[in-house]
Amino acid sequence: MNRRALITGVSGQDGSHLAELLLSKGYEVHGLIRRSSSISTTRLDGIYQGPEVAGRSFVLHYGDLTDGQSLARLVADIQPDEVYNLGAQSHVAVSFEIPEFTFDVTGQGALRLLEAVRNHAPAARFYQASSSEMFGSAPPPQNEQTAFHPRSPYAVAKVAAHYATQNYREAYGLFACAGILFNHEGERRGETFVTQKIARGAARIGQGRQSELLLGNLDARRDWGHAVDYVHAMWLMLRADAPDDYVIATGEAHSVREFCQLAFARVGLDWERYVKVDERYLRPSEVDHLCGDSTKARTALGWQPDVSFEQLVHRMVDAQLENES
Ligand code: NAP
Ligand code: GDD
Repeated sequence: MNRRALITGVSGQDGSHLAELLLSKGYEVHGLIRRSSSISTTRLDGIYQGPEVAGRSFVLHYGDLTDGQSLARLVADIQPDEVYNLGAQSHVAVSFEIPEFTFDVTGQGALRLLEAVRNHAPAARFYQASSSEMFGSAPPPQNEQTAFHPRSPYAVAKVAAHYATQNYREAYGLFACAGILFNHEGERRGETFVTQKIARGAARIGQGRQSELLLGNLDARRDWGHAVDYVHAMWLMLRADAPDDYVIATGEAHSVREFCQLAFARVGLDWERYVKVDERYLRPSEVDHLCGDSTKARTALGWQPDVSFEQLVHRMVDAQLENES
């Protein structure tokens, strides 16, 4: 029997890569999408199957993490073997503008989904998309033992969801895992995250379509990997013998400045001539330095990343050059 998975956030960067991975492994994949006034499923174009396809293995359902009843009904109807909670208001800077909404979707949304699983599919394996942002100002290297010090409404919500996942594992025996993933990017990254903003800016400036790029804190350091490597880790966690929490990271940190340097060099330009700091992109409280220690996942799950920092930057810039051509 094919395994059946439900993915929230399927239209996002990770959700689209995870759906592809699970389909390639023979899963029947169900994805939750929000209704929007324009098409929001472009990342799923390659795998979309319309309602007219008989016996389709990829099905999209309308729902919302703020609507507990829709989640309960979907889980009850689908009876998934695996549930991946990737849905979130995932932009840290935006979470300072809309903190209540962020907490509702990113924090309470996870609790609603855990309740739906507990009540309607208690044997399902559950994955929660926890985040290195939860470590906040805790000094690197960060691992599963590092105390959280969240620095944004988004991070506070993720900490709540993380603890809810652990609590449902302990209280109700759910096979619930939290993956504490460090930043992961790629060709499908949203345009307002710093890596894609830089990749797009470098490509456009290289093509003479843009004259400068406005950024915020250039000193922030992140442990950047590629999303395809990271969704593989999610799947491995739910294949383990017992539920647990894992840090997923490359173990290498680079600054925003270094990202700019490599991205602009890819199009033959000196970044310092084009990048300007604009205070509007600074955050009320910043996370300065994230660098993960993923020894546990590498040892217990056999996980390791394949894409290097330089390859990541080059792939993102090259994809933007193709987009713009
Ligand atoms: P993303 O591209 O921003 O995707 C977020 C997804 O959540 C989208 O499909 C979005 O739908 C959906 N969503 C937003 N609000 C929702 C709601 N109210 N109900 C249902 N779905 C909703 O994020 P990502 O980079 O793929 O990240 C996936 C998950 O991992 C997120 O939970 C994120 O917080 C977490 N995470 C990401 C990273 C990273 O570096 N990428 C690191 C650690 C953790 P629309 O398409 O309709 O907006
Ligand atoms: N977005 C953005 N835009 N960030 C900028 C800019 C800018 O113009 N200029 C500098 N930065 C800095 C931010 O201040 C931050 O320190 C760093 O670049 C990375 O910002 P983002 O790319 O927005 O990512 P993030 O680290 O805040 O959050 C991402 O990673 C988390 C995991 O650590 C998101 O994907 C979160 O959802 C995820 O949990």
